[in-house]
Amino acid sequence: MLVIVKDSYDEISREAAQIVEDRLRRKPNLVLGLATGSTPLGLYRELIRMHKEEGLDFSRVTTFNLDEYVGLRPGHDQSYHYFMRENLFKHINIPEGQTHVPDGMAGDIDAFCDWYEAEIAKRGGIDVQILGIGANGHIAFNEPGSSLGSRTRVKTLTDMTRVDNARFFATATDVPKYAITMGVGTIMEAKELILLANGAGKADAIRAAVEGPLTCQCPASVVQLHRKTFVIVTRDSASALNGRYPGTWKSSISLER
Ligand code: GLP
Repeated sequence: MLVIVKDSYDEISREAAQIVEDRLRRKPNLVLGLATGSTPLGLYRELIRMHKEEGLDFSRVTTFNLDEYVGLRPGHDQSYHYFMRENLFKHINIPEGQTHVPDGMAGDIDAFCDWYEAEIAKRGGIDVQILGIGANGHIAFNEPGSSLGSRTRVKTLTDMTRVDNARFFATATDVPKYAITMGVGTIMEAKELILLANGAGKADAIRAAVEGPLTCQCPASVVQLHRKTFVIVTRDSASALNGRYPGTWKSSISLER
């Protein structure tokens, strides 16, 4: 695990984008795991810029998103389908058929989850997985208490997560109660993880993830077991950490060698 602390949100976004760019230039058919939430928006903006200004090519990339609310149609403006289309997919040259977001309207959710796992496996697994973190230490929608070996499935959202995400909905009661999410075990199989955090509101969660005990009470703490994880955080998100971590890691993009 490599923890990188930066002064600003723009810098964590750029650092993450540079890693993705490097991996994509080395492997044009990269399998990219994507996250929603406000945190990865800067990374997506930077990837769009790289595509438009520097010709970064997504034509052979396949993407798998971490999660989706159960019961929201892809056209719903709070669905993660909509989020990804608006904030990334429509701005880059990725064919729609190569993008995957869990289907919150699936009739047989269990069968869908098995299919999603099989699709990831068919492509050789996820090369780089982007992650945000919930204030309660969740990754994707793996809430505290999630099994560390879990696979893609339905999870009940905690009240805290529903309150945190209520800011995007008209009222708190509009926030769905359930979500389909990749499991912690699914996420851990990605070859590389990039965990991003921005703002003081994530400081406790980042401390628990990076320096706390490995526990299902903080699902993000599993990153401690992963062999190639970048934790890229702003100084305020890092403010509760005891360890000393680099502000830059110039050779970070070649870590996989
Ligand atoms: C949601 C998503 C997570 C995300 C989290 C944090 O719950 N399911 O994948 O990491 O929100 O969101 P934000 O980046 O807006 O703080």
